[in-house]
Amino acid sequence: MFEFIRSLLCPFEQIEKYVPERGNILDVGSGHGTFSFLLSKNSKRKVLGIDPSPKKILSAKKKIFPNLKFKKKYIHDLNGKKFDCITIIDVLYLLPENEKSSLLKKAKNLLKKGGYLILVINGRKDLISYKLLNLEETIMVKILKKTYSDNKKLYFRDNLFYKKLLKKLGFRILLQKELTSKLGYPPHILFLAKVT
Ligand SMILES: C[S@@+](CC[C@H](N)C(=O)[O-])C[C@H]1O[C@@H](n2cnc3c(N)ncnc32)[C@H](O)[C@@H]1O
Repeated sequence: MFEFIRSLLCPFEQIEKYVPERGNILDVGSGHGTFSFLLSKNSKRKVLGIDPSPKKILSAKKKIFPNLKFKKKYIHDLNGKKFDCITIIDVLYLLPENEKSSLLKKAKNLLKKGGYLILVINGRKDLISYKLLNLEETIMVKILKKTYSDNKKLYFRDNLFYKKLLKKLGFRILLQKELTSKLGYPPHILFLAKVT
């Protein structure tokens, strides 16, 4: 049920089109694994989904494909193996600025030369969008505790903030695009970036 609603709210199919058709893909904060599953379905990609929430990883592990794995890990737990593409979808609003920065820095280190970062954020800098998102996520994170968060706080930032941060960390932004989910809400912004 939750996954069905999530797939109406997040434009997974549109995001998938930007992910390379083959290679090692890391999905950071993979949640129930809906997007990782979509990436691995009928594809030559090898997908690893990681998430710090034991419950979400347990649920994700019910999705079985030979080219799909899930691990209960933070990005900082990963070392050695490099990826052709790293996806981060609707995760960074749960992290304060220093942690956003350190997660993206680590992603940069884990990317192969010429690898892609796909960062998707939700919300737009208009009053209604952030008010509604804050309300929804307060319910999910603080009241129902359905979304795992170390800090139990929300840190929504707009596209300008992320654009500056990606550039500061040495990413070259190839594309910034607003995407619309099946329900037409909430607005999502996709950044496709490469390590310079
Ligand atoms: C709104 S859900 C998005 C899940 C998935 N990316 C999707 O689009 O369906 C946010 C996810 O971020 C995870 N999360 C929380 N803190 C995290 C962190 N420090 N690093 C990675 N993921 C984190 C949560 O457990 C949750 O699964």
